[in-house]
Amino acid sequence: MLFDTHAHYDDDKFAEDRYEVIEKAHESGVSYIINAATDVKSCEDSLALAHRYEYVYAAVGIHPHEVGDADDNALDEVARLAKDSKVVAIGEIGLDYYYDFAPRELQKHWFAQQINLAKELKLPVIVHDREAHQDSLEIIKQEKANEVGGVFHCYSGSLEMAKELLNNNFYISVGGSLTFKNAKKLVEVVRWIPLDKLLIETDCPYLTPEPHRGKRNDSSYVRFVAEKVAEIKQISVETVADVTLNNAKRLFNI
Ligand code: NI
Repeated sequence: MLFDTHAHYDDDKFAEDRYEVIEKAHESGVSYIINAATDVKSCEDSLALAHRYEYVYAAVGIHPHEVGDADDNALDEVARLAKDSKVVAIGEIGLDYYYDFAPRELQKHWFAQQINLAKELKLPVIVHDREAHQDSLEIIKQEKANEVGGVFHCYSGSLEMAKELLNNNFYISVGGSLTFKNAKKLVEVVRWIPLDKLLIETDCPYLTPEPHRGKRNDSSYVRFVAEKVAEIKQISVETVADVTLNNAKRLFNI
């Protein structure tokens, strides 16, 4: 039994077969999936999936890539949709200084606003942080995101930062990049982190783990992430699956 805490089944890459892929993953042992939204349309699509399948939940929010296109109503729309009982988090929100698709000041503004929305609604946050570690950490502290907690998804920061995040009521989530050859820093984080603070995910259709790197990713591949965590921590895959599933249920109140 596995919990894929971060997927994007509303993505065009699943246009032909999304229901089939979700159902197959569920049959293969993925007990729960959270579909993370990126813009208002994606929030609606995530909710539609969550209503179609009992085991699919939704996170609603505006991704840092999309904040440049978001109008004034977008935050109200997210707030309205977030009241649905299948919404378990505000996400994905955060900062992306790798692509810089939107001006950094605007990204920060949206990140802070959405943390405050999460606090109003008492929902945890799902954070996207790419090459923006210092600012991400600063904003979660400044906006007191620890009041609701959350997760840094596809974690790419340092061990020091991971320690700070745990002190701020955050979990760390790892995906396919943990299985890549250049994952040294992330392996170190996973080796250190208490198992009860770790989540696993796919971020599908992206970031496909080894040995399928290059192909389209889906939730069934989350088991390769669980296997890698088990290898690093020298514990059984069953323990990793059990504990990370319970961690996610605790964080997302499922
Ligand atoms: Ni994502």
